[in-house]
Amino acid sequence: TKVTRVHHVAQWKSEGRKFAMLTAYDYSTAKVFEQAGIPILLVGDSAANTMYGYDSTVPVTVDEMAPLVRAVTRGAPKALVVADLVFGSYEASPQQAVEAAADMMKRGNCHAVKLEGGVNIAEHIRAITNAGIPVMAHIGFTPQSVNGLGGFRVQGRGESAEKLRADARAVQEAGAFSVVMEMVPSDIAGEITRELEISTIGIGAGNDCDGQVLVWQDFAGMTTGRTAKFVKRYAELADELRAAAVQYAAEVADGSFPDEDHSF
Ligand code: KIV
Ligand code: NA
Repeated sequence: TKVTRVHHVAQWKSEGRKFAMLTAYDYSTAKVFEQAGIPILLVGDSAANTMYGYDSTVPVTVDEMAPLVRAVTRGAPKALVVADLVFGSYEASPQQAVEAAADMMKRGNCHAVKLEGGVNIAEHIRAITNAGIPVMAHIGFTPQSVNGLGGFRVQGRGESAEKLRADARAVQEAGAFSVVMEMVPSDIAGEITRELEISTIGIGAGNDCDGQVLVWQDFAGMTTGRTAKFVKRYAELADELRAAAVQYAAEVADGSFPDEDHSF
């Protein structure tokens, strides 16, 4: 596995090379994904859901996120580790955004931060990048605004396509090195990808983005219950883990574990 840093992401776009990103929230998982050659790991605030069991990303705090980020950077020293700024930590002003980003870089020991928003947050992105901190933007469906957006809805359909384009241009202009596009129509995501110089990373944004991202518990089948249409399950880890726990408990109950091979 090669070391990945932000300049590689620009290089891949010019080479037309598609890339995969996954979320990670702990040392062991980050290590596995680095071994698999996943070049970018996102410590997403989806940790609110996957690690802390909240029903949205709104309540998660920096104190809850920062230890996860540190663990991922230790588990995957060669990956580009990007950490989400949490809701409420950066929106008030460009100055607040710089402070939140610097705090996350210091406490997480990561390589870049991600934040949500387009035109409305462009000045903040400019201020953070001026401070020497690489920014990944996130437009389209932005989960931190779920209460304002009125639920999980595809963004950029019909007339709002122009807003999405304007957001994409604004974050590029502000200095973001890449932009996540979440739940937007494939054709518009493709148009934006071709128009922008920076890399686009899709989640529910079709096949024409430069990169793709999924939440690891979703892609690995660790999530139980309903998952979004854009999720493809590449494994069924929850089923496997549950079966293993059932067998372990049964063997303890019937006295067959530990056997001689696992005893001193
Ligand atoms: O928090 C997260 O996992 C994300 C990705 C889904 C892009 O922001
Ligand atoms: Na996020």
